[in-house]
Amino acid sequence: KGKTKTVWVCSDCGYDDGQWWGICKQCNGVNTMKRFSEGVERPMSGFEVSENVTRSWLPHQSVRAMPTKLTDVNKGINQSNWRIPLSGLFGAEVGRVLGGGLVPGCLVLVGGDPGVGKSTLLLQIAAIVAEGCDMGGPAPVLYVSGEESVEQIGNRADRMRIGTDEIFLYASTDIEDILEKAQTLSLRALVIDSIQTVYLRGVTGSAGGLSQVKECTEALLRFAKKTNIPVFLIGHVTKSGEIAGPRVLEHIVDVVLYMEGEKYSSHRLLRSVKNRFGSTDELGVFEMSQSGLQAVSNPSEMFLSEQQSDSEFLAGLAVTVIMDGSRAFLIEIQALCVAGSSVSRQVNGVQAGRAEMIISVLIKQAGLKLQENGVFLNVVSGVSLSETAGDLAVAAAICSSFLEFPLPMGIAFIGEIGLGGEIRTIPRMDKRINTVAKLGYKKCIIPKSAETSLSSLDLGDTEIVACRNLKEMINIVF
Ligand code: TYD
Ligand code: MG
Repeated sequence: KGKTKTVWVCSDCGYDDGQWWGICKQCNGVNTMKRFSEGVERPMSGFEVSENVTRSWLPHQSVRAMPTKLTDVNKGINQSNWRIPLSGLFGAEVGRVLGGGLVPGCLVLVGGDPGVGKSTLLLQIAAIVAEGCDMGGPAPVLYVSGEESVEQIGNRADRMRIGTDEIFLYASTDIEDILEKAQTLSLRALVIDSIQTVYLRGVTGSAGGLSQVKECTEALLRFAKKTNIPVFLIGHVTKSGEIAGPRVLEHIVDVVLYMEGEKYSSHRLLRSVKNRFGSTDELGVFEMSQSGLQAVSNPSEMFLSEQQSDSEFLAGLAVTVIMDGSRAFLIEIQALCVAGSSVSRQVNGVQAGRAEMIISVLIKQAGLKLQENGVFLNVVSGVSLSETAGDLAVAAAICSSFLEFPLPMGIAFIGEIGLGGEIRTIPRMDKRINTVAKLGYKKCIIPKSAETSLSSLDLGDTEIVACRNLKEMINIVF
């Protein structure tokens, strides 16, 4: 049989491409790409054509694929640059974390603790994608929930004043059923809330179990790649901080985003941990309000507002950045120095030996008269400091309490302290500083020796202060 050349042409604007796209890359028309082959006009919709591969997302059904010439793949298209833009302030913030918009056919996993706001976030993303102000008008987005009823989601949308015509809600946990329904809608995007509630018939184990989670994710990946429809998965995070089910999940998907928030703060961070289409340095900052999440375009205001309300309580408080896997976290360290007869040292979240060493170095090398003081140390919100990167913040917190000098908000400390009072560099300096800058901190105190490695970072308005030793740090900050 001779070679047949197939080309896909947009029935609206005439754009042609070597493969089918759910959305025309030129005019953003939905489901307008029609197939032509051998010069014979055979317009069909994308889904009709995929009849023979209709159920190919199911496991163990191999699809016949042929190797493609690299030059054919790249001919005339720059696929990696083509993205579905997300409009508005909120859309821009989400789009930035995604690496500059939504890539067609990508599988995005959004993880986070229960109650942090994942469903809220995805409903809002669904709304802006469906409205599609920058994409040639509205198109359907399907929001599937295995956690809540359609009415519950409707109520939430109502409170958030989302009223677009193009969001479809569906309560189901059967992947086959979901993907069959999805096919009939010519979707622009699909949301699955959550991966732990869906199951695939014929796969052993209950929903949320290792093999179900893995097989379902793979089925959704095949669906996304086949149809070029972007798919969002919500995943719950276990107590140990991993997305429930296998870590495998993170390997299957294209993009992994984590949503984080403090218990008593309305701020939410959206962090990219893995991104096949962009950098993982991006950090989105949002605020949870009565009507959903709002982008915080100037994160430094977060700190200003806190400073004004409790400025008098801040002596003895310093901020540092710790790493957990590939993620950087800001944590607060509190110190309390009490002059008097009891010279006890109580530490929480800091290794006792490490704390003792920092106190001794402060006495001997920085001339702080801590001998007559009881020193209490505490890492806020129960985190334990397992790295030496927090040394400098511990020292700064102690100085701040001892001198009764509140540190200004918006200043972070990163560095290890040596016995000579010198400040030493620590691993992943760039990643930590990047997080500080993205969050709009005004100042970051770092070791002098780390200064040279930062030239490539975009630091915005964050001022980097490099110090050789503790004395220098105290002179600059206090
Ligand atoms: P939700 O999106 O249900 O979290 P998840 O899906 O991650 O479990 O959001 C949970 C919290 O968000 C809930 O405690 C209420 C709060 N919330 C608001 O403050 N404002 C809102 O507009 C919405 C929809 C929720
Ligand atoms: Mg939810």
